Amino acid sequence: ATMSLEQAKQVAAYKAVDEFVTNDCVFGVGSGSTVVYAVQRLAERVETDKLKVICIPTSFQAKQLIIKHKLTLGELETNPQIDVTIDGADEVDSNMILIKGGGGCLLQEKIVASCSKKLIVIADYTKDSVKLGDRYKKGIPIEVVPMAYNPIKNKIITLFGGEIKLRSAVAKAGPVVTDNGNFILDWLFPNQSLDWQKVNTTIKMIPGVVETGLFINMCQKAYFGQPEGNVIERS
Ligand code: A5P
Repeated sequence: ATMSLEQAKQVAAYKAVDEFVTNDCVFGVGSGSTVVYAVQRLAERVETDKLKVICIPTSFQAKQLIIKHKLTLGELETNPQIDVTIDGADEVDSNMILIKGGGGCLLQEKIVASCSKKLIVIADYTKDSVKLGDRYKKGIPIEVVPMAYNPIKNKIITLFGGEIKLRSAVAKAGPVVTDNGNFILDWLFPNQSLDWQKVNTTIKMIPGVVETGLFINMCQKAYFGQPEGNVIERS
């Protein structure tokens, strides 16, 4: 029988947690719907194997997951060195470049990833891509300081082309406000080969840009849950 997307997320999450959780580790907890399964598994393993694990959240959602599962909540101030972070992604290309931030949590996710010895991605098979934009159609999320959203938008379009949408909230009139009080621009980049390293650096240099959802040279391994129930590993 073909598994649901949710089951594909779950098998990937369980496998990654079982591979990487160890006693006395500092564990970065990503954000999104796939990470929910990872925290579930982490809590099971901590309980049954009597592990000591400190969890560092990447968002309000992650923090709530940690609290709900009665795991030990830490922060970068006291635990600036993370052993492994497990997080979802919106797309993973053949060079292990990620688009993240579909859930709006890219800034803290990137900070936590940058403090981690390893970043492990867990995802269902729909995130497994060759070229960015092949699978994820909503563009690259860019977190910006609110007062600067419009000039930043114009600058990116002048530099690289494409189209940009200010992400709007669903249950509120107006824009999405991130965990850090910023706005999100979703950049529908043009369909041509781009040097992502250069694109990322150039965009980050624009005043008012806080972070981009491009994760380059950060991810060591990705687990993709498959419709058949197996998990494909890529590194
Ligand atoms: C959150 O900001 C994102 O970076 C998520 O990690 C990403 O959107 C994956 O989420 P799902 O696991 O829900 O697909």
